[in-house]
Amino acid sequence: MIFSKKMENLTSAIFTELSIKKAKLISEGIDVIDFSIGTPDIPPAPNVIELLKNEVGKIENYKYAITDTNELINAVIDWYKVRYDVKLENNEVVSLLGSQSGFEQLSMTLIDAGDVVLTPDPSYPIFTVGPLLAGAEIHRMPLLKENDYLIDFDAIDENIAKKAKLMVVSYPNNPTCATAPRDFYIKLVVFAKKYNISVLHDNAYSELVFDGSIGGSFLSIPGAKDIGIEFNSLSKTFSIPGCRIAFAVGNSEIISQLKTIKSHVDYGMFLPFQKAAVAALYGSNDYVKVVKNTYQRRGTVLTDGLNKIGWHIDKPKGSMFVWAAIPPKYKSDLEFTFDLMDKTGVIVVPGSSFGEHGKGFVRIALVENEERILKAVESIKNSNIL
Ligand SMILES: Cc1ncc(COP(=O)(O)O)c(C=O)c1O
Repeated sequence: MIFSKKMENLTSAIFTELSIKKAKLISEGIDVIDFSIGTPDIPPAPNVIELLKNEVGKIENYKYAITDTNELINAVIDWYKVRYDVKLENNEVVSLLGSQSGFEQLSMTLIDAGDVVLTPDPSYPIFTVGPLLAGAEIHRMPLLKENDYLIDFDAIDENIAKKAKLMVVSYPNNPTCATAPRDFYIKLVVFAKKYNISVLHDNAYSELVFDGSIGGSFLSIPGAKDIGIEFNSLSKTFSIPGCRIAFAVGNSEIISQLKTIKSHVDYGMFLPFQKAAVAALYGSNDYVKVVKNTYQRRGTVLTDGLNKIGWHIDKPKGSMFVWAAIPPKYKSDLEFTFDLMDKTGVIVVPGSSFGEHGKGFVRIALVENEERILKAVESIKNSNIL
């Protein structure tokens, strides 16, 4: 078979290698503590599960949804008003079958072969994979510790900026755990308007911001809607990643194009999931607080524990991860990841799998409970890895 060149962008060698090695360790009776994939282990809210149980029993819910229900659109509009003080109109909202698929669909609407897309580095892989599938030429914007992992707009070559069609931005950030202040977003809007670049802000971790800070929306910045949209997802906020519920909000022209693509390729979200989204968005804020506090506590337990045994790591400002520079005696994050796995059964993701500027780091997903986190710290302490 001869497959398209595009498929070459989809290699996931590292995750395959990690899972083969994980299976081997388990077969040898090792207690594997897996911090690799960011899939929430926190149970969804009981009201969401109850509603789903009910709705999947109704025959009328099995037709093609095609479009979003008014209830879903209104729930998103109300969530944006209450949560971020952002006013949205009906034509500024569309659901996505997960933000991942939204990335690919958005790229199809904006990108022609050879168009330049600015993406952060390190970054969540779909930020480059989506545009690459549409034929984009990727220009990477380094996220550096000395800049608090914020994009440095002044460092973007003017010729590249002039050619760029789309910029992908995402805070709270996966994998660096950085958050962005309001003045960063003000600069972003000014920059994007100056060079006529569309912006996608991925706000998947808006609710997972720690130490008393509250996440916001890019759309709350004056002028943001003129140039961009925001993705938001229920996957992490409501611990329902398998339902594939997300939405895009903002610039009505982009939203309209997304609706056109969706009407051709996905036919809309399963109606019980649309109803689950409404229940989650109008549900008690206590659930979201529990989720946020759980990740915050885990981040503290892990970083305090590791700092005590000599692995110096910053506490995350947001998200559900810890971003850790590898111990100084290691030169490569890959080598460290596999040594760590061999010597302790602890699995993390090498930073280089998120891009060139992830080299020398590992990402630790806070998806194991505090007891297991302490066990991992103990295993690391008892190994000679540090
Ligand atoms: C930055 C970011 N955006 C989006 C997603 C995925 O969201 P969804 O489940 O809606 O596709 C993730 C999941 O890890 C993520 O880290």
